[in-house]
Amino acid sequence: MTIAEREALLNLAFRPHYPIEDPDSFFGREAEKDRVVQALHSPGQHIVIYGERGAGKTSLARVSTIGYSRVDVFCERESSFSKLARDVILKYQSENPAKLVFDAANNRVSINGVMKALDDLDGNSLKALLPKETFVLIFDEVDRLPEGTIASLGEFTKNLATDTPAITLIFVGVGETVAELLRGHDSVFRNIRSVGLGKFGPDSTIQSILDKGGRTLGLIFSPESIASIVDASDRYPYYVQLLGITSARVAMSEGASTVTQDHVMRGAESAAQDADETLRDAYEAAILSSRSDVYKYILWGLATLDNRVEGAVGQIAEAASRYATSPISAQVAGAALKKLAGGDRSNIVSTRVMGPKKTFYSFSHPLMRGFVRLRIINANHNGPQ
Ligand SMILES: Nc1ncnc2c1ncn2[C@@H]1O[C@H](COP(=O)(O)OP(=O)(O)OP(=O)(O)O)[C@@H](O)[C@H]1O
Ligand SMILES: [Mg+2]
Repeated sequence: MTIAEREALLNLAFRPHYPIEDPDSFFGREAEKDRVVQALHSPGQHIVIYGERGAGKTSLARVSTIGYSRVDVFCERESSFSKLARDVILKYQSENPAKLVFDAANNRVSINGVMKALDDLDGNSLKALLPKETFVLIFDEVDRLPEGTIASLGEFTKNLATDTPAITLIFVGVGETVAELLRGHDSVFRNIRSVGLGKFGPDSTIQSILDKGGRTLGLIFSPESIASIVDASDRYPYYVQLLGITSARVAMSEGASTVTQDHVMRGAESAAQDADETLRDAYEAAILSSRSDVYKYILWGLATLDNRVEGAVGQIAEAASRYATSPISAQVAGAALKKLAGGDRSNIVSTRVMGPKKTFYSFSHPLMRGFVRLRIINANHNGPQ
């Protein structure tokens, strides 16, 4: 097999950088998918899918709406409502040229003889141009939009719900604030179903992803390798896919037929290199130029708290001490955590204050915990770095 053939196969088996469209490659999330499908069947109801980066929001929206006539648009920073409406109509028109006629020279569309200018579409014009039969409109990455545009989308949702019940809007975005913003008006609230996505729950979901990828490649993931991927991925779909492809690549390059824990460890090295640049940059900036490695060990400790995403100073100091050559006191840990939560160290850590003596610390970026775990694996694998 040539390298090109191997890469083509690997990218068929795992898909770290692209949302899933094929239901056979979409695992777990049964309850969430049910909630989306129920709302799709409920006239006048619209959907918000929210959750952390890489949790699988776009995949859920796409897989749940297979078979529907649909258009999806990506929101951009600074997009106005009319810009979004234009994107929607142009996309709909290119996929349904028989239904809408586009007059590029004059930048307008016509439907049943009625002309609409595309430059300044408002909610009513958009509604008039959209089909009356069952139709799904996905607005992805709504969290990027300015608040004013989100408010206009809220208004539009309310309008649609009253007399265009066959159209379902799906808003996809990072963080709960999106759902909150759209729920701004009470009347919209009743028409919106929020579906939140977090980490994968059961190990069996992760195992299924690895088994399926393995079958495509003629590889078997050993139980130990699966356990390592569950742990290092921090159960995020994105990291499961990334570790799946990198460990399988190492195994295949050796001609092995079983993926071992060692392959996962070595794959993790390139997974950390491939991970989102913002994660790597934030991590490097956070551990930079300290005389001791205290910042690094604090981050390692925070990433490996037992089954907890946040911790108090004492717990983090204890976890960090497992890595350091001499124990890290709570006082030293507290000072380091304050710095890590500040601008100089890229705000890598966030705080939650629960009272005068109770502050909890967690990673600001939801994928950072998984990224730091990969770095720990690398370091232990390669010796001190
Ligand atoms: N249910 C699933 N089963 C298997 N893989 C999944 C599942 N959900 C997501 N993934 C994988 O995880 C990765 C992230 O998925 P997706 O792009 O849908 O997430 P997202 O939440 O939209 O991310 P972002 O916030 O970056 O837009 C993709 O590579 C996809 O292949
Ligand atoms: Mg997405």
